[in-house]
Amino acid sequence: MRILVTGGAGFIGSNLVWALVAAGHDVGVIDDLSTGSPANLHPSAWFRTVDILDDSLESLVREFAPEAVVHLAAQSSVSVSISDPERDHAVNAEGTRRVALAARQAGARRMLSASSAAVYGEPAELPLREISPKAPINPYGASKLEAEAILAEVLRGSDTDFASMRFSNVYGPRQNSEGEGGVVAIFSGAIAADRPPVIFGDGKQTRDFIFVGDIVGAIVAALFGEKPLALDGPDGPAYNISTGTEISVNDLVRVLRSVAGYLGPIESAPARVGDIERSSLSPGKAAAEFGWKATSELEQGLSLTWSWFESQRP
Ligand SMILES: NC(=O)c1ccc[n+]([C@@H]2O[C@H](COP(=O)([O-])OP(=O)(O)OC[C@H]3O[C@@H](n4cnc5c(N)ncnc54)[C@H](O)[C@@H]3O)[C@@H](O)[C@H]2O)c1
Repeated sequence: MRILVTGGAGFIGSNLVWALVAAGHDVGVIDDLSTGSPANLHPSAWFRTVDILDDSLESLVREFAPEAVVHLAAQSSVSVSISDPERDHAVNAEGTRRVALAARQAGARRMLSASSAAVYGEPAELPLREISPKAPINPYGASKLEAEAILAEVLRGSDTDFASMRFSNVYGPRQNSEGEGGVVAIFSGAIAADRPPVIFGDGKQTRDFIFVGDIVGAIVAALFGEKPLALDGPDGPAYNISTGTEISVNDLVRVLRSVAGYLGPIESAPARVGDIERSSLSPGKAAAEFGWKATSELEQGLSLTWSWFESQRP
C-alpha cells in the first residue's frame, strides 16, 4: 500500500515508517524537521521537508498519491502549547484541516490522525472511555480535541474513511529525552548520561504507559482493517490506543532501574503544578472494532528502550 506519514521523522512516526517499509509498503514522509531528526528518516522512503501549513502541501500529497495517510505531525509539547498557544493551535488544529483536505483531494481511502489522552484532562472516571467527559487542561489538549472535530468536519461523507487515535503515554526507542519528552525517555537519558533521574512529587502518580511497538501495531491494524472506522454516534471516529493499565512512576522507575542495571540514586523534586494524579484509558473499542490489543510487557518494552538509549551513548 502507498502510505503517507506526516511527522515521519519524529519519535512515533519514524518507528512506524521503519516498520511499514520493512513490511514492503511504499512509504512517503512529510516533516518540517522542527522536532524530528534527519537521522530518523528511512533512506528508501519518499521524503519532503515541508511545514503542513505550507501552501505546497496539497500538491505534494497529490504527487505522492497515497492510498492512506497517517497524520502524526504536530506541535507535541504541552509546555510549548502554554508558551505559544497560537502556534500550537495553528499546527495541531489548522494543520489537521490542511492534511485532511489534502488526503481527500488525493483520493486516499483512509486517514488516521494522532490525538491524545490530553483531550480528557483530569479524568472523571478510570479507565477513561472514548465517551468520557473531555475537559482539556492545557492548549495542547484543546487543540488535539479541536483537531478531532476538524477531521470529521472535512472527511465525513467523503470517500476517505477516518479515525482519531487517542494515544496514552508512549515510550520507546528514538523518543527525545531533552525538554519534556516522556518520563521514560527523560529517565533513560539521565541514566545513560550518568545523571540521577528525578521523580516529581511522591512518584505515586500513575499513567497508562504504552510501548511504541504497540502504537505501530494499532496503526497497522486500523489501516488494514476491513470495517469502516468513522462510526456514527458519540465519539464514533475516536479510539483510545492504550493498555488500560495504570502504572505508577515509582513502579516504572523500579523496572527501568533493573533493566538498566542502574545502582545510583534517584532524586526527588516537588510535584509539578498541572500534573494529573492518575490516568488510564480503556482500549476496548479498538479491540472490538479492529481487533487490536497491546501485547508488550512493561519490562520487555523498557528493556528495548534502554538498549536504544545505551546505544546512543557517545
Ligand atoms: N509521544 C506521546 O506520548 C504521544 C501521546 C499522545 C499523542 N501523541 C501524538 O502523536 C504524534 C507523534 O508524536 P511524537 O511523540 O512522535 O512527537 P514528535 O515531536 O517526535 O514528532 C512530531 C513530528 O512532527 C514534525 N512536525 C511538527 N510540526 C510540523 C509541521 N508544522 N509540519 C510538518 N511536520 C511537523 C516534527 O518535526 C516531528 O518529526 C503527535 O501528533 C503527538 O501529539 C504523542
